[in-house]
Amino acid sequence: MQKHLEPRRYLKRFDSQNLPHVFCDVLVIGSGVAGLSAAINASEHAKVLVVTKDAVNETNTDHAQGGIAVVLAPDDKVEAHVADTLATGQGLCDEDVVKGIVAEGPMRIRDLISWGAEFDTIDGALNFTREGGHGHPRIIHAHGDATGAEVQRALVQKAAEIENINVIEKVFVIDLLTAGGRCFGALTVEQGKGPTVLWASKTILATGGAGRLYRETTNPPVATGDGLAMAYRAGATLRDMEFFQFHPTTLYVAGASRALITETVRGEGGLLRNALGERFMPNYHPKAELAPRDVVSRSIVHEMWRTRKTCVYIDMTHLPKEKTRKRFPRIVELCANFDIDICEDQIPVRPSAHYMVGGALVDAQGRTGVEDLYACGEVTSTGLHGANRLGSNSLLEGLVYGCRAGEEAGRLAAKRKKRDMPKPIQSDFDMRPGRIDIEDVRNSLRSLVWRNVGIERAEPYLGQAEDMIDFWCSYVMCKEFDSPAGWELQNLLTIAKIVASSARWREETRGVHYRTDFPERDDQKWLKHSLVHREAPDRK
Ligand code: FUM
Repeated sequence: MQKHLEPRRYLKRFDSQNLPHVFCDVLVIGSGVAGLSAAINASEHAKVLVVTKDAVNETNTDHAQGGIAVVLAPDDKVEAHVADTLATGQGLCDEDVVKGIVAEGPMRIRDLISWGAEFDTIDGALNFTREGGHGHPRIIHAHGDATGAEVQRALVQKAAEIENINVIEKVFVIDLLTAGGRCFGALTVEQGKGPTVLWASKTILATGGAGRLYRETTNPPVATGDGLAMAYRAGATLRDMEFFQFHPTTLYVAGASRALITETVRGEGGLLRNALGERFMPNYHPKAELAPRDVVSRSIVHEMWRTRKTCVYIDMTHLPKEKTRKRFPRIVELCANFDIDICEDQIPVRPSAHYMVGGALVDAQGRTGVEDLYACGEVTSTGLHGANRLGSNSLLEGLVYGCRAGEEAGRLAAKRKKRDMPKPIQSDFDMRPGRIDIEDVRNSLRSLVWRNVGIERAEPYLGQAEDMIDFWCSYVMCKEFDSPAGWELQNLLTIAKIVASSARWREETRGVHYRTDFPERDDQKWLKHSLVHREAPDRK
């Protein structure tokens, strides 16, 4: 285990006796694919409260374009999907976990379809596409490139029909409440109200990732790593936090969000060209545009450097126009805002931070090491992804682990006869007065992490990043904020420190972690996970 900074156990001073209380059987934090799947499954046994930081649809899931990888094509095989996942994970996947998720996938997709999700079909059968690293077309999609939005829509609608589920939007969870190594719910603030204690028999963390650590990211503003940071403070183990996946092709137009230009564009024949108009991917990898994402991202960075330009281009102008417009309606609309016609013009793209591969360590049921605390989705490290995530495996993982965690948490919560409430929980500390410009630190942090802990990493830049983060921590972490912007900054700093120090610790190149000073994979020394843990925090 690595040594890490010890942030305060709680970000805020409070005494649970003096706060309003709400009780529920199962508390789900987050409303993406994992959180809503967990809620729907838990609701078969128990009452579920879902709290979400923004609007219920404001999730990473909603932004997903490409699709869901699943073995449903008649000529595809579980073993083949397992083999592709293991190859991409470069030695750090848990093979049993991979087999379990891939085998369970078809069942979870059938659930989703029975709850109203509609996927694209051809002649009545599901239509499969390809992404990098997949040896078979096995990605199902919806409305062309709006798969995440369709999954989100179906889950929100299904959850709304269930009496046992109550969803509250605009609730910021400050911290998980623990005593004696057990989780009892969370300390929260609903917009426009004061702090409240949500007591729960079982708590399920489904807060997604931390793309907002990086200046350039596909993730929406909510993705500030709150769940990772609060799990860490509560005593959960974080695993493999050096592995952060960059998506190679995100829109690069000043003023536009770094929206995905889905990999399935390349799956359907889109080509990458540099600023000189040259196709370059065949020079870097035999699979060319469908090489693994980390390879494509690094190749793009090299081409940008070689041509001294800030982007490369995706070229779809040679593809059948009508089919292309129908297949990628979201991208058509997005690019049209900037007068780019995807059938006539090339799309400027560059890589951006996309997916937190590491996360809170969970077992096969989604249990963390903190009693009564479960986790599912991007916030976790289940063992599926290893050192790199195969495209479109994450919605699948969210569905499978949402189901498993929700089912168990709901069933066990329903068995509890009496309401469990620990002795009052308090947090008190000396805080340092003084004002800081939260936005300024946040922007500086995001730029630093992008520059020094980005697609390519090396000493001394990783060390410099750690030193700078330590310096910012020295005057930010000792403050007590009373707004989400301040708590998000403290969470971002906590996770940035862990990502940077884990990246510094792993002196080899593996998967998405590319060290220019250690460019080889070194199985002898590094065929192991990074684990970060804050010892028994509520026993101190
Ligand atoms: O390129 C994409 O559509 C992304 C898919 C994913 O991140 O799984």
